[in-house]
Amino acid sequence: MTTGIKMRHYTGTQARALRPLLLGVYTEVYADAARTDPFASPDRFAEGLDHWTARPGWTCVVGYDNDQPVGYAYGAPLPPGTLWWRGLLTQVPADTTAETGTRTYALSELMVREPWRKTGTARRLHDTLLTVRSEQRATLLVDQTHPKVHALYQSWGWTTLGDLRPRLPDAPLFHAMLLRLTPGAGGTGR
Ligand SMILES: CC(C)(COP(=O)(O)OP(=O)(O)OC[C@H]1O[C@@H](n2cnc3c(N)ncnc32)[C@H](O)[C@@H]1OP(=O)(O)O)[C@@H](O)C(=O)NCCC(=O)NCCS
Repeated sequence: MTTGIKMRHYTGTQARALRPLLLGVYTEVYADAARTDPFASPDRFAEGLDHWTARPGWTCVVGYDNDQPVGYAYGAPLPPGTLWWRGLLTQVPADTTAETGTRTYALSELMVREPWRKTGTARRLHDTLLTVRSEQRATLLVDQTHPKVHALYQSWGWTTLGDLRPRLPDAPLFHAMLLRLTPGAGGTGR
């Protein structure tokens, strides 16, 4: 049932208390991937999580079925000079990746536990996180070996900017994607 799922917003001041929940859901959702892919290891994720939650403007939405967390989405605005676009392999006009701190919200993570997949919960987490944003656009990275996830984001209105491989050990090749946001009008352009 999705109708009973409650969405709760969080910010950086709550990150420390939320950390065990976020790590627990990640460890469960990425258990298979972590067996073969060092980039998916919970330790690497924990490092990334601490980096993201410390960023100015970090926001998170967690979905709950009664008291049980079912998944979450989080991200933060990209600051001027961000490293996000470093590793972009596709040539794009310089202005495309020029960040001001208020132009682009980076959706860093979206995950849903198995029993709540294909219920609309992932889309609700995504929309609940993004509809309140004031930026013009959002960006995310999707692993190129996960074409169904890429197609899912396309069906939600995301477009593909190009190829990007973060300059991190074991990083896969990603599609860098963009979504136009419509601040004040529901956010995700729907
Ligand atoms: C991505 C996610 C939130 C979407 O949830 P949803 O809207 O309920 O959609 P589904 O779970 O049905 O996923 C859509 C399709 O992508 C596939 N898929 C989802 N995550 C995948 C992954 N990590 N790797 C490969 N394929 C994946 C699903 O198997 C499904 O394929 P199917 O239609 O043949 O069954 C959820 O699948 C999830 O939590 N996946 C694991 C974490 C993840 O990959 N997050 C995205 C990071 S960019």
